[in-house]
Parts: sequence; structure tokens; C-alpha cells
Amino acid sequence: MAIGQHGQQDNLPSEILQLLSKHEPILSSEALPSQKAADVKGALDRLASRSMVKYDTIDREEAILEDEGAEIEANGSHEARVFEALRKAVEGLTVKELEAAIGDKKAASVGQGKAFKSKWIAKAKDGRLIASIDSIQDTTREQLQIIQKTRTHPDPKVIADLKKRKLVKMQKVISYEVSKGPKFALEMVKEETDLTADMLASGVWKTAAFKPYNFKSLGADQNAGALHPLNKVRHEFRQIFFEMGFEEMPTNRFVETGFWNFDALFVPQQHPARDLQDTFYISDPKTADKPHAERKDDKADYDAYWNNVKDVHQEGKYGSIGYRYPWAEDESLRLVLRTHTTAISTAMLHKLASKKGPDGRPPPARYFSIDRVFRNETVDATHLAEFHQVEGVIADYGLSLGGLMEFMEIFFSKMGIEDLRFKPAYNPYTEPSMEIFSFHKGLNKLVEIGNSGMFRPEMLEAMGLPKDLRVFGWGLSLERPTMIKYKVNNIRELLGHKVDLAFIERNPAVRLEKT
Ligand code: PHE
Repeated sequence: MAIGQHGQQDNLPSEILQLLSKHEPILSSEALPSQKAADVKGALDRLASRSMVKYDTIDREEAILEDEGAEIEANGSHEARVFEALRKAVEGLTVKELEAAIGDKKAASVGQGKAFKSKWIAKAKDGRLIASIDSIQDTTREQLQIIQKTRTHPDPKVIADLKKRKLVKMQKVISYEVSKGPKFALEMVKEETDLTADMLASGVWKTAAFKPYNFKSLGADQNAGALHPLNKVRHEFRQIFFEMGFEEMPTNRFVETGFWNFDALFVPQQHPARDLQDTFYISDPKTADKPHAERKDDKADYDAYWNNVKDVHQEGKYGSIGYRYPWAEDESLRLVLRTHTTAISTAMLHKLASKKGPDGRPPPARYFSIDRVFRNETVDATHLAEFHQVEGVIADYGLSLGGLMEFMEIFFSKMGIEDLRFKPAYNPYTEPSMEIFSFHKGLNKLVEIGNSGMFRPEMLEAMGLPKDLRVFGWGLSLERPTMIKYKVNNIRELLGHKVDLAFIERNPAVRLEKT
């Protein structure tokens, strides 16, 4: 009966049992010289798991002949061959004749040197080489013959010497010393792997041999799905936001109008960020309708908002002198791939303006989003034309900058980023604006982790939000913390067709060292 998954090695276990029935113990290297050690071990393990055999592993070193050693073992040492050639030639030989007789120039020259040294040969008066004794003993050949037969030599000095002469080398050999186990038999009984209803009904279970559990066997590889590192870090960010009472914004629109992406944020129409070099514009269709309510329950006033945005850019409003340029409707209706998720925050804040809290005024709110944005950038090791933004906004009455800096410290400490530094910065839509830095211990320098600021009255009051409702926002990329966390230096190893699937599958699930 063929048992096991080893195919051709199926008869190896019974061969071992046969050998053991004749005498024990057996040494696998002697009894099964042509079998591979791994196959023998496989067969022995199967037999040992049924207690049919016991075995010990023996590691030893064997001496085996190198090519030159094998040649000497077969034909004699060089010096012996030189001696034999000269002994046969009654008149002696010239060096040339000797070479021809041996048929190996190197053997002839090496052999001559050694034979002279041992005084086996001499030079005659006429310059010819002659044998100077009747017989010699070819010790090297005899030593090699012993090694060829026994794979060792009784005198370790001999092996050391032959090794030095590069005639033999040592080789590690694994062998198994096998003897009968308590359940030794010539036949391998089929072992049951399952207890079935039939076996219970027929009573066979009482006598059946059950295969013991193998607690050492490794589980089969699971070909399961894996989450992308960006997804895992995103999940962690979402948890932090939810924990701090934030509501997730719907970010399922990659295409926006210039209005939501720029104008509503008080970004002037001639601002460099609106250049073709920085922003992807849609060519078909080129423009969208004017902003309007998309759902019945949307009570926000879009027309007044549109006019307010136009006025604040063109003439100034809400105490601001504006930019004072002719504001173009067409520019505002152009379709763009959104360059930041602040476009979504803006739409959400505009809706907030029409909400009424218990006191009849818009209630405080905390919103966040994590999604993709697009910028017409030159692609390099750290930049792609698209990335993910993590963005948060807090709207509340009487917010102060100091309080918000503290909030940032709490927020970033939840992902293990501490010791923040704030640097004044510029955004068209926030005042004041602050870049957020943190000291990176690995890089031993301050690295920028985000951008933030208080949204301007030009933006908020145009929406109809009350003057004393302050809104603070901040944004960072999802890629940067992910790359730092997973030690990825090239963004193309994280995103795109060059991503190594094994990298995705084997990454740990837990990344942010929370403090
Ligand atoms: N939109 C900014 C950016 O793209 C981030 C930001 C959001 C800044 C909100 C201030 C307020 O970097």
C-alpha cells in the first residue's frame, strides 16, 4: 500500500523496516547509501511517529577524494609513475622521453622532483634519468585507497597532510542510526485521521490505529487578503478623530468647481495655486453649474453665498477691502481635480451656517476627512501627482489660538508625535496660519507634519456663519506618517505598479506608538 505524499520514496519506509528485521541498529549512510538524507529523515519520521522505529541523528565529517586525489588513487602518485617509467626503461630516459612515457607534463615534472628527493631515481653520466632502486612503496596512493574505501584514515595526521596537498577534502554527512521501536512490524498499518460515524457504528474504532496529532506541524499558508499600509494608518487616524468627537465628512467627489476648491476659500483667481502647472483642470466638460442644493433637506442659501464670494473678492466685505479685481464667474465654474480636501470642509461649513442649535445659532462642530487630492506636481521619490489628505476642522464660539495649539498637541500625541513647534505661515484662507513641526528622533531634525490656521472672516462670513464663530482647520498628508512608520523611502514602493505584494501582506497591523 502506498502511504504518504512522497511519491517515489513510498517504499523507503518498508525498505527500512526490512533492513531492521535483519539486524539492528542500521546506519543510514551505510545501509541506504544512495538515498538523500532529507528523504531518509522523512521516512524515519513517519515510522517514528508510529513508534515503529527509534533513531538518532549522527553528524560526522567524511574525507573524500578531490579530482587529483582520485587520479592518484587510480594511477599512482606522480613520483611513483616517474619511478615505474624509468624502472621499465633499461637504458634510462631523457626528460622528453619521460614526459612522453607518462603522457602528462605536470605529473612528470612534479614526480621527478619528489622521486629525486626520495632517492628513487638518479641522473646517469650521459644525463639520462635512471631508477636508482629496485622497488618503491607508493604510500600516498595506499593512503588514498584506504580513504576511498572507508572515507577516513586511522591516522588523522595523514588526512591533515592530504588535505594540505589538496588531494582530499572533508564533507559533512548526516546519517541516522536506526533501531526497532516498541511497535516495530514489517507492515505499515494505515492510520486513521478521522473518527467517523461508520467506525462508531461498526465498532472498528476499538481496534483502529489513529494517527497521533502532530503539534509541531506548521499551519498551511493562508492566502488571505491584506490591508494596504495607507489603509491601516487611515484606520488609526479615523479612530483618533472619532475618539475626539469628530464627524466624518463625505469626500466622494474628486472633481470640484474652482468655486469650492478656491473662490469660496478666498483664493484670488490669479493665485499661482490655480495655475495649470499646479492644478489639473477637466477638459470635458470644462465647467459645471453654479453651486446649488443637491438634496431636498439642504436649506443652505447658495445664491446669496455666490454673490457674497463675488463681492468679497471684487469689492471687499465684512470689514475686508477684498482683492479688488474683476471676479470672473467662468473661472469659478471651471472643473478641477480637487487640490485639497478643504473644498469639502468649506461645503460642510456652508451647510453648518444654515443649521440651528438650541440657541437658534449654528452649533459647534468637529469634522474630519481622509481622502485623495490631486496636484500637478513633478513625480519623484517623495511626490506623486495624487496623495491623501487628513484634515480636521473645529468650529466653536470663542476659540483661541493658544487653546488650538494645545488641541494639536493632544491630537498628535495620540499618534506618538510629541514636542510640536509652530511656525507662522501663509494660506489665502487662514489668518493666522501655522505650519506644524515635530522633532524627528530618527532624522535628528524638525520635520514638517502639517499646515493649519484660523479660517478668515472673508471665507466664513460669506457663508453666513456668525462673526463670533471661529473655525480652525489643519491638514497633513497620510503618506508621510505612513512612510515614516513603515520605513519606506520611495513613495513608489508604497503606491503604484511597483509595489511589492509581499510588503503589503507582511506589514504589521499596529503602527502608531500612542502616548
Ligand atoms: N488645505 C491645506 C493644505 O492643502 C491644509 C489646511 C487645511 C490648512 C485647513 C489650513 C486649514 O495643506
